[in-house]
Amino acid sequence: MTRVGIHDLSMATGQHVLDLDELAAFNGTDPGKYHVGLGLDQMSVLAPDEDVVTLAASAALPIVQAHGTERIRTLLVATESGVDASKAVAVWVHRLLGLNPGCRVVELKQACYSATAGLQAALGIVARNPGEQVLLIAADVARYDLDSAAEPTQGAGAVAMLVGADPDLVTIEPVTGVRTADVDDFWRPTDRTTALVDGRLSVSAYVDALTGAWDDFAARGGVPVEQIDRWCYHQPFTRMSVKAHRKLAQHVGAAFSDDDLTDASRYNRRLGNSYTASLYAGLASLLDHDDDLAGRRVALFSYGSGSVGELFTGVVEPGYRSAERAQRHAKALDERKPVDVRRYRDLHTAAVHRSDVDVEVPVASGTPFRFAGVRSGARQYVPGA
Ligand code: COA
Repeated sequence: MTRVGIHDLSMATGQHVLDLDELAAFNGTDPGKYHVGLGLDQMSVLAPDEDVVTLAASAALPIVQAHGTERIRTLLVATESGVDASKAVAVWVHRLLGLNPGCRVVELKQACYSATAGLQAALGIVARNPGEQVLLIAADVARYDLDSAAEPTQGAGAVAMLVGADPDLVTIEPVTGVRTADVDDFWRPTDRTTALVDGRLSVSAYVDALTGAWDDFAARGGVPVEQIDRWCYHQPFTRMSVKAHRKLAQHVGAAFSDDDLTDASRYNRRLGNSYTASLYAGLASLLDHDDDLAGRRVALFSYGSGSVGELFTGVVEPGYRSAERAQRHAKALDERKPVDVRRYRDLHTAAVHRSDVDVEVPVASGTPFRFAGVRSGARQYVPGA
């Protein structure tokens, strides 16, 4: 059988960063609640000329530059931060990246889970047509109301993956475990720009989805837990992965350590939540920090509120290490410009644009692609300055 999986991967984030110590000082919270209780140190914040389209395209640009566009016949953008109820984010991204007209594009949605549905679909496409590649991008801006309990778990990020046959990074194995249940733990009605969430319910729904997905995985012939070398979870806040890992250990009767998760949470501690991108930012972090992954099996757990969970495994290829990729990711995080709480709150409010008012957004960031404003109701995207 043809090996299929992730051939390359690239992460991008917003141009600004808010240190959670500043948020804690502003709202009178002990910073330990954020650093230890939630496992978050910072959150990425977008500049006024960034949004999910520019994030997605920026994440994918290094992949297109490295591998060309010739074999990409499908572009999937997974997001719950879509800017139009009809037009796919992927259509703008397709133009900005200069992809071929002979390329199918679509946007996928199911809370933080949809990138995994995209990955499974992409694997099917490339298994059937091993000469083709699929560009899959998970991109999101996590937005909750100011002054809400969920506020410290905001953030932003995008991870682009080139999916193909004979992959250089991670071969994805065929067995997966899935669990779907209708739960009102987190959702965003179309008349809102911020999510509604029952935080405690979302934590228990996540854990139920994990144990349910594990049972399905085991029932379908998935490898026993002893044959899994690394774990990578969806991380709305990194402490959630610790809670999940402990529950799974109890569920399967295994002795896991919290330290198993350190390398897969380094980026997520600094990005904050990035919804669909969160699991794959965790994978990027693992690949960039763990020196001993060649031939190792990684279990990945994807969760999207509402809810769908999927657990699957991949085996890391020998040449997975890339100093260039790790440096690019470190640069994206290190070079964000800090904002104070006042500026962050202004940006949070200013991010919303009405479609019935024309607006021109001035150059605010050095990103490869910019949101330039709204003209005749249509959002405008241009290459960066
Ligand atoms: N030092 C260390 N830990 C501290 C602390 C301190 N000073 N103060 C509090 N904590 C711990 C709490 O004990 C708690 O730990 P526990 O979960 O292990 O019990 C943790 O910090 C969070 O505190 P809590 O009071 O539960 O936080 P909260 O009510 O403000 O809300 C969320 C936390 C995650 C529910 C909220 O941020 C949220 O709704 N986020 C969005 C939804 C989400 O991300 N869901 C995840 C599933 S998708």
